[in-house]
Amino acid sequence: MVSLERQDKAAPQVFWHASGVATEQRCRQLGQQAATVWLTGLSGAGKSTLAYALEQRLFHAGRTCFVLDGDNLRHHLNSDLGFTARDRQENIRRAAEVARLMNDAGLIVICAFISPLRSDRDLARAIIGAGNFIETHVSTPCTVCEERDPKGLYQKARAGLIAEFTGVSAPYEAPLQSALTLDTGVLTLEHACDQLFGHLTPRFL
Ligand code: ADX
Repeated sequence: MVSLERQDKAAPQVFWHASGVATEQRCRQLGQQAATVWLTGLSGAGKSTLAYALEQRLFHAGRTCFVLDGDNLRHHLNSDLGFTARDRQENIRRAAEVARLMNDAGLIVICAFISPLRSDRDLARAIIGAGNFIETHVSTPCTVCEERDPKGLYQKARAGLIAEFTGVSAPYEAPLQSALTLDTGVLTLEHACDQLFGHLTPRFL
């Protein structure tokens, strides 16, 4: 059972240093409210494609933003983690802590992680803060993702060469109350991106 409390786990001899610059001041300077768009969905659902398309759109609209992508983070920050439920939880926890720091700096963060379990996404929401957390279900069905199979991973998973593959041999729990649901099997990339951009627009000061 995951505790949703964001516990301070620092040793007692470790102190907290407060910044003299408030997040609100940073946001005012950037002309935006910080937020984290959290894209969840199966491998091949289009999360990364959508994340980078939205990043381009926001950047060219003068917004300060950054993508945290599951595959990319696993190359460095999370290279010690695999795909057990425990490792995925740690993957999501670290990503959420980074997103939170970036939000503290005033940025709009776009996270693209399978993040298959509700409890892990609830943990991310608790770390980031519910007011800044925009959960978006990239709901492209498994059949479509498997047909696309851009990295050949579904084929390997079906052949038993990859263990605990989400949608094949590991669970995916769809969000119950996401802010947005985008099926890239039906929507064009442009249309899906429009919906996310429109959702964020009220946050531009
Ligand atoms: S998560 O489940 O911990 O959120 P994350 O988004 O970081 O996953 O990474 C998913 C990527 O890792 C997939 O896009 C896929 O390329 C790759 N991958 C490798 N093994 C697995 C697996 N067992 N299950 C799902 N994705 C996997």
